[in-house]
Amino acid sequence: MLIRPLTLSDLPWVLDLEQRIFPRPWSRGTFLIALANPQQIFFVATVGEQCLGYIGLWRMYDCVHITNIAVEPDVRRQGIAWQLLGEAQKWACGAAMTLEVRPSNTAAKALYKKFGFQAAGIRPGYYEDNGEDALIMWKEITCENTGD
Ligand SMILES: CC(C)(COP(=O)(O)OP(=O)(O)OC[C@H]1O[C@@H](n2cnc3c(N)ncnc32)[C@H](O)[C@@H]1OP(=O)(O)O)[C@@H](O)C(=O)NCCC(=O)NCCS
Repeated sequence: MLIRPLTLSDLPWVLDLEQRIFPRPWSRGTFLIALANPQQIFFVATVGEQCLGYIGLWRMYDCVHITNIAVEPDVRRQGIAWQLLGEAQKWACGAAMTLEVRPSNTAAKALYKKFGFQAAGIRPGYYEDNGEDALIMWKEITCENTGD
C-alpha cells in the first residue's frame, strides 16, 4: 500500500466515497478550495490504481485539524486509517492534532483513542444534520513520536 498526496485526478473517487458514507459530504468546490490552500493537504492510501482511504489536514498556526478521514467500507479493519494517521502525524510534527467526532461514531472514537488522542471537550449541537454534539479530541505531536 502506498500513501501519497491526493491529486485532482483522485477527486471523482473521493467525492463518490463522501457521497456514500457521510450525511453531509464535501462538495467538489470545497475540495478544490482546500487543495488550493497551502495550509491544507490530503493523503490517499492506494494499492495500484485503486484508492482505499484518505485523510484531510488543515494547519492553523500551531494546530493541525483533521478535516476528514474515511476508508472504503469493504477494506476496513485492515490498518488503513492507522497508516493514514501515521502519515498525518509526520506532517503535523511539532504541532497538536485535533478533530471533532460524533459521540455515536464508535469506530472512529476507538481509532483515535488507540492512536493516543484524548477527549478535550464538547461542541454542543455541532452536527447540523441531526444536532448531535461533537466530541473534541486532541494529541500533541512531538517530532520524536512520528514513527508510531
Ligand atoms: C473510522 C474509520 C476511518 C476507521 O478506518 P479503518 O481503516 O477501518 O481503521 P483501522 O483498521 O486502521 O483501525 C485501527 C484501530 O482502530 C480501532 N477501530 C477501527 N474501527 C473499529 C470498529 N469498527 N470498532 C472498534 N474499533 C475500531 C481498532 O482499535 C483498530 O485496531 P484493531 O483492528 O487492531 O483492533 C472507518 O471506519 C471509516 O471510514 N468510517 C466512516 C467514516 C468516518 O466515520 N470517519 C471519521 C469521521 S470523525
